[in-house]
Amino acid sequence: MPDYLLLLCAYLLGSIPSAVLICRAMGLDDPRHNGSGNPGATNVLRLGGHQAAALTLLADLSKGGAAILLALNAAAPALLQGWVMLAAVCGHLFPLLSLHRGGKGVATTLGCSLLLAWPLALCQLLFWGLIFLFGRISSLASIATAAITPLFCYLLAPGLLWPFSITSLLLILRHCSNIRKLIAGREQRF
Ligand code: G3P
Repeated sequence: MPDYLLLLCAYLLGSIPSAVLICRAMGLDDPRHNGSGNPGATNVLRLGGHQAAALTLLADLSKGGAAILLALNAAAPALLQGWVMLAAVCGHLFPLLSLHRGGKGVATTLGCSLLLAWPLALCQLLFWGLIFLFGRISSLASIATAAITPLFCYLLAPGLLWPFSITSLLLILRHCSNIRKLIAGREQRF
């Protein structure tokens, strides 16, 4: 498969609005217009509880994982697999059908990391959990994990440093509204 087609497929997979579809199927409010306005597992947890949130998390992890599986199946070189992750995350952040209403990319990135470099994914998961336990704020854990990911990547998967660094930067930029709320002490705890 040509590289551009692989990247396009990854973008389209990332574009699948899991949170919106799951909320619609479960008769819940649209997460893009309620709660934090973010179509992601954290906001679905606020709107619909654990089951809906777990399904959203699983779906977002899976679409990232599916993009990497596609790359592995096409025998893409390691660095291209990293760009495939970035394409899938861009699909989640800026979905084809609603460019400005995407999510924040945390679960989709993790779904990719799990297949690209599981030790890195394990570190991301543990670090996220640690920060969450400390503050019980999902966005703080996500921002901190995105910030430290380039270091984990440098140590554990140096060949993927560029794709992971750019992905982390996008994730942090996507959390601008959360950063403002964190500074103002208005971010919601669990
Ligand atoms: O993964 C998204 C999380 O970091 C923040 O979600 O809904 O609190 O903006 P939310």
